[in-house]
Amino acid sequence: MSNDKIDSILQENRQFAPPPDFARHARIPTAQALSALSERAAADHSGFWAELARRELTWHTPFQTALDSSEAPSFRWFKEGRLNVSYNCLDRQLAQHGDKTAIVFEGEKGDTRRISYAELHQDVCRFANALKAQGAKQGDRVVIYMPMIPEAVVAMQACARIGAIHSVVFGGFSAESLKDRINDAGATLLITADGGHRGGKIVELKAAADKALDHGCPSIKNVIVFKRTAHAVNMKAGRDIWWSDAIAQQAAQCEPVWVESEHPLFLLYTSGSTGKPKGIQHSSAGYLLGAIVTMQWVFDIGDDDVFWCTADVGWITGHSYVAYGPLACGATMVIYEGAPTVPDSGRFWKLCQDHKVTIFYTAPTAIRALMKGGDDIPAKYDLSSLRLLGTVGEPINPEAWMWYHRVIGRERCPIVDTWWQTETGAHMIAPIPGAVPTKPGSCTLPLPGIAADVVDEQGKSITAADKGGYLVIKQPWPSMLRTIWGDHERYVQTYWGKFGGKYYLAGDSARRDKDGYFWIMGRIDDVLNVSGHRLGTMEVESALVAHPRVAEAAVVGRPDELKGEAIFAYVVLRGERPAGGVDTALTSELRQWVAEQIGPIAKPDDIRYADNLPKTRSGKIMRRLLRTIAAGEEITQDTSTLENEAILLQLQGKQ
Ligand code: WTA
Repeated sequence: MSNDKIDSILQENRQFAPPPDFARHARIPTAQALSALSERAAADHSGFWAELARRELTWHTPFQTALDSSEAPSFRWFKEGRLNVSYNCLDRQLAQHGDKTAIVFEGEKGDTRRISYAELHQDVCRFANALKAQGAKQGDRVVIYMPMIPEAVVAMQACARIGAIHSVVFGGFSAESLKDRINDAGATLLITADGGHRGGKIVELKAAADKALDHGCPSIKNVIVFKRTAHAVNMKAGRDIWWSDAIAQQAAQCEPVWVESEHPLFLLYTSGSTGKPKGIQHSSAGYLLGAIVTMQWVFDIGDDDVFWCTADVGWITGHSYVAYGPLACGATMVIYEGAPTVPDSGRFWKLCQDHKVTIFYTAPTAIRALMKGGDDIPAKYDLSSLRLLGTVGEPINPEAWMWYHRVIGRERCPIVDTWWQTETGAHMIAPIPGAVPTKPGSCTLPLPGIAADVVDEQGKSITAADKGGYLVIKQPWPSMLRTIWGDHERYVQTYWGKFGGKYYLAGDSARRDKDGYFWIMGRIDDVLNVSGHRLGTMEVESALVAHPRVAEAAVVGRPDELKGEAIFAYVVLRGERPAGGVDTALTSELRQWVAEQIGPIAKPDDIRYADNLPKTRSGKIMRRLLRTIAAGEEITQDTSTLENEAILLQLQGKQ
């Protein structure tokens, strides 16, 4: 984010007290109630979490030790305990909530389905038995590459039931990305679909899966294919089986495998500052506890709510607040398959109206895009069922916040701006809606039991208001990542290296204002946030240089009104630079190339050709300079250390 933008956000001092009508019925209804909770957590950190774990999780074998830090930064929560995540999400709802709707599904074309807890339980058991019949067992990695349909959740829950470790790959990732993730995890089974409906088109999932497997995924033995679109796809004899055939003979009961608290529930690949995505590994008990308590504290989930988190299960938000958190709380949730703009930008609001959504959670980029459609579209829908709104993924600009508040929340609904990460598993800094006044653009205060702080280079707390620093977490928390799959050293270095193993380094910079509120300023590493999706600049650079015509590439983010950040690539070609720095055919070829290497979300928005990249005499690319140029700002940096100052004009597109 540019400094101007930060300054304008900091001038933002509007405050919105919890609406009395909301607070009256809230789980945590006052600031006092919240302080009591926070103080308990501060007085006995691990005891606080242990008490919650005993109360909120159903254990097969109780734990003795709340937190084992003897091998820090490898932390073990609720050691000795055994439980099953799927049991905690489904079986324990059956007695009281068997007939309650667990999932309300709507496809992009308008088809709907309601699935009760009893039905979901049966579906998961049947599919878990099918997984076993396909040879999957505890500890095996299963890759899920699915559209946003209930079966994606069934597949995840079924893995959890048998102790297999799932790794969901977002359906928008390309065959190449899928292949890399399958191979890094050493997955033995792939679950996919023929396709999905999105944006009025069919997403060719099976075709991409075939391509990935053709390119070499030796560990994959079997592929289960759900029929969603029913268009023609290839089925490879001996390897591929239709979902319906796989479950045909299977019983609707499946004894859960009771795993240790620390048993890995899933891997989820996310971008870091190298070219290789990292497999973030989460635990079973601690992870689920984080999802449950934040559903209660931040989403104030209640028995009558209809909860809708718009995230795809390919992201952490779709894990914690679609596949696990809502079910573990016995909630009713909405799942929508398609794009927010089909048939027009009123689709989300129509879904809220038709399914009487009470809690709605989405990303700032979606809010900004829908805001563009104007106020008239949401005005057409009855949004009176809504009582709470949320955002996640990137800082929300106050303008979008105010629009969300006014036009969608009709000034009645608190907005929870939730800061967290793939690595943190659950919300970390977010308002408790009945107790914490909100300020547009701030994620407000850390949750009870979360020791978040902003520190300087030496790791000292920054007490002065509005001075920026590193966002850190000073104590372990149950839903934290446990390691990076296959690379524990990278885990230690990336997250614990900076402050001598003492603090978890989030990778974000932040400021606190005079009230102690947190304002996230952006990433400190080479990670972009494009429409709320994390992308490493190095990943895009590696994709570009893999093209035969590209010699060198440097990728930076540029502020973008809709996406938050857009991708700006500086490219040095093998051979001649195109005349005037323009070659539209090559530019579209390179954009398509990157889409194939990573996925359409990684397509560079701008490509600029130069004879060279700006380097210091020691050979380092001056990225800050490239960011300034990409943003179209005036160059204020000292360019005298540049080896090749003459290329500045080319980089600025002036030559
Ligand atoms: C950013 C998404 C400001 C941040 C759950 C973080 C946010 C990264 C917010 C994690 C927010 C997420 N305000 N920034 N409310 N939420 N971020 O792993 O930079 O996809 O480090 O997890 O998104 O992205 P991830």
